Amino acid sequence: MSEKKYKTIQYLDRNESQYGPSPKCYDYLKTVSIEELSWYSRDFARGVKSKLSERIAKDFGFKETQIILSYGSEDILKQLIHRYVMRGDKILIPKEAWWYYKKVAYEVGGFNVEYPMIKGKIDGIDSYLYDVDKMISIYDRERPRVVIIASPNNPTGNKISSEDLYRFLDACRGSIVMIDEAYWGFGSMDNSYVKPYLDEFPNLIICRTFSKYFALAGSRIGFSFAGNNLEELKGFTTRYLGYNLVSENLAMICLDDIEYYKKVTQMMQEDKEMFYREFSKLDGFTPYKSYANFMMVDMPSKIRKDLDKFLKERNLLIKFLDEEAFKTETRITLGTKEQNKYLIESIKEFLNK
Ligand SMILES: Cc1ncc(COP(=O)(O)O)c(C=O)c1O
Repeated sequence: MSEKKYKTIQYLDRNESQYGPSPKCYDYLKTVSIEELSWYSRDFARGVKSKLSERIAKDFGFKETQIILSYGSEDILKQLIHRYVMRGDKILIPKEAWWYYKKVAYEVGGFNVEYPMIKGKIDGIDSYLYDVDKMISIYDRERPRVVIIASPNNPTGNKISSEDLYRFLDACRGSIVMIDEAYWGFGSMDNSYVKPYLDEFPNLIICRTFSKYFALAGSRIGFSFAGNNLEELKGFTTRYLGYNLVSENLAMICLDDIEYYKKVTQMMQEDKEMFYREFSKLDGFTPYKSYANFMMVDMPSKIRKDLDKFLKERNLLIKFLDEEAFKTETRITLGTKEQNKYLIESIKEFLNK
């Protein structure tokens, strides 16, 4: 194996796709017209926000008004918090969470209350788990304005079962609940709960994005299913002159090429299995079950600095987490087969030095 396989940095630390979007996206980009670049979409005049919101509503059996479009799920999270959280309000978030959940309430003078996850096993593999009893007791005590659940969660990679989710939503009827499904699709493509849960819980919003599964992070496009009580948010987020037409067209091309994404996800799944196997063999390493496009791996803390340096010299970046909940864990974004193989071989070579 050559020492430095890649001439440029391989970013396996940012949860972006290394495979890229459907090749049909590139075909489309070569044909973009003046109308798509220079004109407003004028869809609002037809009584809908856009072709994309119309399409998603139809696919899922919703009224178009229940679909919110956003510049990814970061954008809708920010808008939700800015619209509903006032100075002194609490939001309830996982302790083991994406860093932005920890910041966003402070932008409006609110603050966080955290619920911890527990550790267990799924299919014999170590996993973080949502502890719904605990979550409900913290909810009852704190009565937050907004509750966030991430499924799959970043950086732990676990998801919540639809039964646990139902129990929790049932307990949280007095608050707005956001389910962040940014990593939807990698571990399961189940959509069966979306419409029934939205119908039953009018304070619920389920957020999805084209950034991860569909590999369009640079196009900044996402969507949400919003419950009937979230009328103000629907108004707050509407852009009457339209959205990014090119991004929307790319998103629709992706929705029409699920076969491509299934193939990519299958390759990633094979590599997850390879990582579970290979990391489990290494002394002091624990891989965690992942339903996302990344995997958390606990590693001996004494090697962190040197391993980081060793991998960087090979142009490989993985994320050595350094936050309250995670001091010894790393988060590895699943790369291509070639990248993943090179990464595990490099780690083994480092350990055998
Ligand atoms: C859990 C989670 N939610 C949301 C986002 C934001 O993604 P985007 O704004 O690209 O949709 C990220 C980004 O990494 C994430 O990890």
